[in-house]
Amino acid sequence: MLAKVRGRSSSPPDNPHRLKGMRVLITAGPTREFFDPVRFLSNPSTGKMGYALAEAAFRSGASVTLVSGPVALKSPPGVRVVPVVTALEMRKAVLREFSRSQIVIMTAAVSDFRPKTYSTHKVKKKNARLTFALVPNPDILQEIGTRKKPGQILTGFAAETRSLLKNARKKMDAKNLDYIVVNRVGSTRSGFAGDRNSAWILSRRGMAKKFPDMSKKKMAALILKEIRHRR
Ligand code: CTP
Repeated sequence: MLAKVRGRSSSPPDNPHRLKGMRVLITAGPTREFFDPVRFLSNPSTGKMGYALAEAAFRSGASVTLVSGPVALKSPPGVRVVPVVTALEMRKAVLREFSRSQIVIMTAAVSDFRPKTYSTHKVKKKNARLTFALVPNPDILQEIGTRKKPGQILTGFAAETRSLLKNARKKMDAKNLDYIVVNRVGSTRSGFAGDRNSAWILSRRGMAKKFPDMSKKKMAALILKEIRHRR
């Protein structure tokens, strides 16, 4: 509770109703790709960035749907949460919401691959093959990029280990995005988990701004501000 109040007071002053009447769709968290009932492929995403964005968008007056992979966070008040587990479930939920959303922000760390086969019974240690065949998951963001209509603003996230801005611009073009937020992974202070992050936001029109190390709540407010002001 204390952290919430602190985060709120350190956010930049903003008109709380700037997103009134708008529908905002956000994805968050990891996906899990099971190969038997008790084992899966996933990643360390906690969903904190996406949940902070959902909370900030709701506070700005938007109607918010949050499609969330499995995370240990409470649903932000006022936000409609659609829980999903796998990338295929996330794709389905996003496609259902996409056409009626004006602002779409995809923070989810979607697993790029899933096991080719699923065993309905637990794979026993002594029967296990030690190599697993994987198949690619659909790229949800790329798919909705091809369906984007005028008036829809699409923001992606990118996690990179090097050439951040160059790789992010490539991703923004390839996925037909209006904005991309890119952060370095593999360093201690940013990326997965944690309450803080540092990142760059780039726009299709050539804007590039650095967000120095800050709380994810504060970054969420700043990201929404950029998206709103350059619509
Ligand atoms: N994304 C998605 N569906 C996927 C993979 C990624 O919607 N199957 C979205 C993420 O939510 C994020 C963006 O695409 O907004 C970038 O994800 P990232 O993993 O950085 O990029 P990839 O396109 O997977 O490229 P690569 O792993 O080769 O860097």
